[in-house]
Amino acid sequence: MTIAALAPLFLYTKSLHVIAVIAWMAGLFYLPRLYVYHCQVARGSEASERFKVMERRLLKQIMTPAMIATWCFGILLVLTPGAVDWTAPWWHVKLLCVILMSGFHGASSKWRRMFLEDRNTKSQRFYRFANEVPTVLMIIIVVMAIAQPGG
Ligand code: HEM
Repeated sequence: MTIAALAPLFLYTKSLHVIAVIAWMAGLFYLPRLYVYHCQVARGSEASERFKVMERRLLKQIMTPAMIATWCFGILLVLTPGAVDWTAPWWHVKLLCVILMSGFHGASSKWRRMFLEDRNTKSQRFYRFANEVPTVLMIIIVVMAIAQPGG
Protein backbone atom coordinates (compact mmCIF):
# COMPACT_ATOMS: atom_id res chain seq x y z
CA MET A 1 0.00 0.00 0.00
CA THR A 2 1.34 3.45 -0.93
CA ILE A 3 0.00 7.01 -0.76
CA ALA A 4 0.41 8.99 -4.01
CA ALA A 5 0.31 12.38 -2.20
CA LEU A 6 3.61 11.51 -0.46
CA ALA A 7 5.56 11.27 -3.76
CA PRO A 8 6.40 15.01 -4.18
CA LEU A 9 7.50 15.17 -0.51
CA PHE A 10 9.88 12.19 -0.80
CA LEU A 11 13.21 14.05 -0.47
CA TYR A 12 11.90 16.21 2.43
CA THR A 13 10.55 13.15 4.24
CA LYS A 14 13.92 11.44 3.71
CA SER A 15 15.76 14.53 5.04
CA LEU A 16 13.61 14.57 8.18
CA HIS A 17 14.17 10.80 8.56
CA VAL A 18 17.97 11.23 8.44
CA ILE A 19 17.86 14.23 10.85
CA ALA A 20 15.87 12.14 13.36
CA VAL A 21 18.29 9.20 12.87
CA ILE A 22 21.28 11.47 13.70
CA ALA A 23 19.67 12.65 16.98
CA TRP A 24 18.70 9.08 17.95
CA MET A 25 22.17 7.71 17.20
CA ALA A 26 23.88 10.50 19.17
CA GLY A 27 21.93 9.43 22.25
CA LEU A 28 22.40 5.69 21.66
CA PHE A 29 26.18 6.23 21.49
CA TYR A 30 26.37 8.47 24.54
CA LEU A 31 23.96 6.85 27.06
CA PRO A 32 25.98 3.61 27.60
CA ARG A 33 29.09 5.80 28.03
CA LEU A 34 27.28 7.69 30.82
CA TYR A 35 26.55 4.29 32.42
CA VAL A 36 30.30 3.44 32.28
CA TYR A 37 31.03 6.67 34.22
CA HIS A 38 28.04 6.12 36.53
CA CYS A 39 29.48 2.71 37.55
CA GLN A 40 32.60 4.50 38.81
CA VAL A 41 30.87 6.67 41.46
CA ALA A 42 29.40 5.68 44.84
CA ARG A 43 25.66 5.03 45.17
CA GLY A 44 23.86 7.99 46.72
CA SER A 45 26.78 10.36 46.01
CA GLU A 46 26.23 13.81 44.54
CA ALA A 47 27.90 12.65 41.29
CA SER A 48 25.55 9.66 41.07
CA GLU A 49 22.50 11.92 41.45
CA ARG A 50 23.87 14.21 38.71
CA PHE A 51 24.30 11.23 36.34
CA LYS A 52 20.67 10.25 37.01
CA VAL A 53 19.50 13.69 35.84
CA MET A 54 21.74 13.55 32.73
CA GLU A 55 20.52 10.03 31.86
CA ARG A 56 16.85 10.97 32.29
CA ARG A 57 17.13 14.09 30.13
CA LEU A 58 19.09 12.34 27.39
CA LEU A 59 16.62 9.46 27.18
CA LYS A 60 13.33 11.33 27.64
CA GLN A 61 14.08 14.64 25.91
CA ILE A 62 16.25 13.48 23.00
CA MET A 63 16.42 9.73 22.39
CA THR A 64 12.78 8.65 22.74
CA PRO A 65 11.33 11.55 20.66
CA ALA A 66 14.10 10.97 18.05
CA MET A 67 13.33 7.24 17.88
CA ILE A 68 9.61 7.96 17.41
CA ALA A 69 10.40 10.54 14.69
CA THR A 70 12.77 8.07 12.93
CA TRP A 71 10.02 5.44 12.86
CA CYS A 72 7.29 7.91 11.77
CA PHE A 73 9.33 9.35 8.87
CA GLY A 74 10.61 5.85 8.01
CA ILE A 75 7.03 4.57 7.78
CA LEU A 76 6.05 7.61 5.64
CA LEU A 77 8.96 6.67 3.32
CA VAL A 78 7.67 3.08 3.16
CA LEU A 79 4.26 4.50 2.16
CA THR A 80 5.81 6.65 -0.61
CA PRO A 81 5.29 5.12 -4.08
CA GLY A 82 8.51 3.55 -5.45
CA ALA A 83 10.61 4.12 -2.30
CA VAL A 84 10.91 0.50 -1.21
CA ASP A 85 11.49 -2.55 -3.35
CA TRP A 86 10.17 -5.33 -1.12
CA THR A 87 12.09 -7.98 -3.08
CA ALA A 88 15.49 -6.35 -2.32
CA PRO A 89 17.45 -8.29 0.35
CA TRP A 90 19.06 -5.13 1.84
CA TRP A 91 15.68 -3.80 2.92
CA HIS A 92 15.03 -6.89 5.10
CA VAL A 93 18.51 -6.72 6.67
CA LYS A 94 17.99 -3.00 7.40
CA LEU A 95 14.58 -3.64 8.97
CA LEU A 96 15.95 -6.45 11.17
CA CYS A 97 18.81 -4.20 12.39
CA VAL A 98 16.39 -1.31 13.04
CA ILE A 99 14.22 -3.61 15.17
CA LEU A 100 17.36 -4.73 17.07
CA MET A 101 18.33 -1.04 17.52
CA SER A 102 14.88 -0.32 18.98
CA GLY A 103 15.35 -3.31 21.32
CA PHE A 104 18.69 -1.87 22.42
CA HIS A 105 16.90 1.43 23.14
CA GLY A 106 14.44 -0.50 25.33
CA ALA A 107 17.29 -2.27 27.17
CA SER A 108 19.05 1.09 27.73
CA SER A 109 15.83 2.43 29.22
CA LYS A 110 15.65 -0.57 31.60
CA TRP A 111 19.29 -0.04 32.68
CA ARG A 112 18.49 3.62 33.38
CA ARG A 113 15.71 2.59 35.76
CA MET A 114 18.15 0.27 37.57
CA PHE A 115 20.59 3.17 38.08
CA LEU A 116 17.72 5.48 39.12
CA GLU A 117 16.73 3.03 41.88
CA ASP A 118 20.41 2.42 42.87
CA ARG A 119 19.98 -1.21 41.81
CA ASN A 120 22.51 -1.48 38.96
CA THR A 121 24.25 -4.87 39.04
CA LYS A 122 26.09 -4.67 35.71
CA SER A 123 29.81 -3.90 35.40
CA GLN A 124 31.67 -1.12 33.60
CA ARG A 125 32.93 -3.81 31.20
CA PHE A 126 29.34 -4.74 30.35
CA TYR A 127 28.48 -1.13 29.44
CA ARG A 128 31.71 -0.73 27.45
CA PHE A 129 30.67 -3.76 25.43
CA ALA A 130 27.05 -2.52 25.13
CA ASN A 131 28.45 0.72 23.72
CA GLU A 132 29.62 -1.15 20.60
CA VAL A 133 26.18 -2.63 19.77
CA PRO A 134 24.57 0.52 18.26
CA THR A 135 27.82 1.25 16.36
CA VAL A 136 27.80 -2.14 14.62
CA LEU A 137 24.05 -1.93 13.88
CA MET A 138 24.40 1.63 12.53
CA ILE A 139 27.21 0.59 10.14
CA ILE A 140 25.12 -2.31 8.79
CA ILE A 141 21.97 -0.14 8.43
CA VAL A 142 23.74 2.70 6.58
CA VAL A 143 25.53 0.30 4.20
CA MET A 144 22.20 -1.47 3.51
CA ALA A 145 20.32 1.84 2.97
CA ILE A 146 22.96 3.52 0.79
CA ALA A 147 25.10 0.85 -0.98
CA GLN A 148 22.10 -1.52 -1.15
CA PRO A 149 24.22 -4.70 -1.61
CA GLY A 150 22.43 -7.30 -3.72
CA GLY A 151 20.29 -4.63 -5.45
C1 HEM B 1 12.84 3.05 12.26
C2 HEM B 1 12.55 2.38 11.17
C3 HEM B 1 13.04 2.78 9.80
C4 HEM B 1 12.32 2.69 8.65
C5 HEM B 1 10.90 2.17 8.52
C6 HEM B 1 13.17 3.19 7.58
C7 HEM B 1 12.80 3.29 6.23
C8 HEM B 1 13.50 3.95 5.28
C9 HEM B 1 13.10 4.13 3.90
C10 HEM B 1 11.83 3.53 3.30
C11 HEM B 1 14.03 4.86 3.26
C12 HEM B 1 13.99 5.34 1.80
C13 HEM B 1 14.86 4.46 0.95
C14 HEM B 1 15.03 5.09 -0.41
O1 HEM B 1 15.77 6.06 -0.54
O2 HEM B 1 14.39 4.62 -1.36
C15 HEM B 1 15.06 5.18 4.24
C16 HEM B 1 16.19 5.92 3.97
C17 HEM B 1 17.28 5.99 4.81
N1 HEM B 1 17.36 5.47 6.08
FE1 HEM B 1 15.87 4.54 7.10
N2 HEM B 1 14.38 3.57 8.10
C18 HEM B 1 14.36 3.33 9.45
C19 HEM B 1 15.41 3.55 10.34
C20 HEM B 1 16.67 3.97 9.98
C21 HEM B 1 17.84 3.99 10.84
C22 HEM B 1 17.85 3.55 12.31
C23 HEM B 1 18.88 4.47 10.10
C24 HEM B 1 20.33 4.68 10.47
C25 HEM B 1 20.97 4.19 11.51
C26 HEM B 1 18.39 4.76 8.78
C27 HEM B 1 19.14 5.31 7.76
C28 HEM B 1 18.64 5.70 6.55
C29 HEM B 1 19.41 6.40 5.53
C30 HEM B 1 20.87 6.85 5.65
C31 HEM B 1 18.56 6.60 4.44
C32 HEM B 1 18.87 7.33 3.14
C33 HEM B 1 19.26 6.31 2.06
C34 HEM B 1 19.43 6.97 0.70
O3 HEM B 1 18.44 7.27 0.06
O4 HEM B 1 20.56 7.23 0.29
N3 HEM B 1 17.04 4.44 8.74
N4 HEM B 1 14.71 4.60 5.44
